[in-house]
Amino acid sequence: MSRDFSPDDARRYYDCHVALQDRQGWYEDAALAALTAAGDFGTAATVVELGCGTGRFAELLLARHLNEEARYVGLDISGAMLDRAAQRLAPFAGRVQLVQADGTRGLPVRTGGADRFVATYVMDLLPGDAADVVMAEAHRILPAGGLLSAASLTRASRGLRAGLVARLWAAIHRLAPGSVGGCRPVRLAPLLRPADWDPVHHDVVTSFSVPSEVLVARRR
Ligand SMILES: C[S@@+](CC[C@H](N)C(=O)[O-])C[C@H]1O[C@@H](n2cnc3c(N)ncnc32)[C@H](O)[C@@H]1O
Repeated sequence: MSRDFSPDDARRYYDCHVALQDRQGWYEDAALAALTAAGDFGTAATVVELGCGTGRFAELLLARHLNEEARYVGLDISGAMLDRAAQRLAPFAGRVQLVQADGTRGLPVRTGGADRFVATYVMDLLPGDAADVVMAEAHRILPAGGLLSAASLTRASRGLRAGLVARLWAAIHRLAPGSVGGCRPVRLAPLLRPADWDPVHHDVVTSFSVPSEVLVARRR
């Protein structure tokens, strides 16, 4: 029987697994590369990232993809993750803001306050219909034309082995969600309400047989 991994469960888990989170590149990095290629970050003025974790993706964006004036706001429920992100992003400190926030409860960013919204490997651990709450918040925060960039574990896998891995992962999550950090394969594309978003890029990237969905969409 599956049970939700609550925001409190997530905070407790991620507060204790900072170093482990930095070792997830073996299945995340190929998807993150696809996301940066499609996300047009070079023209961004302000990036908001939900579930910024240790700041690994932020460091990549700030060092290689954002222009020198662009600002970055990282949000995460875990204080320990934010502490690690602050260390890592210290060279960019003047352009970086890190805030503790629970994405299931609305986000501390003003309406129209950013032109990019990023969520990598966080939609796949939100409980219940919280991913819809995040999508509504992304829509509120972005102005028309702003870009949403998301990656997650996915059930939309291609190929036999990736499909088996996704089903096995989902089964482990049903039995013991904490053993996989609350993450389970989901589908991102159905979260896009046609009245709110135009898809720009949608793909499944498989790394070491773990399938990730990569989605970029433009706010209408
Ligand atoms: C699987 S990690 C991914 C971290 C990073 N985005 C990456 O791709 O490496 C999930 C992150 O989301 C954060 N998180 C989990 N639930 C959250 C919530 N309800 N609100 C905000 N952050 C949350 C965790 O603390 C953790 O840093």
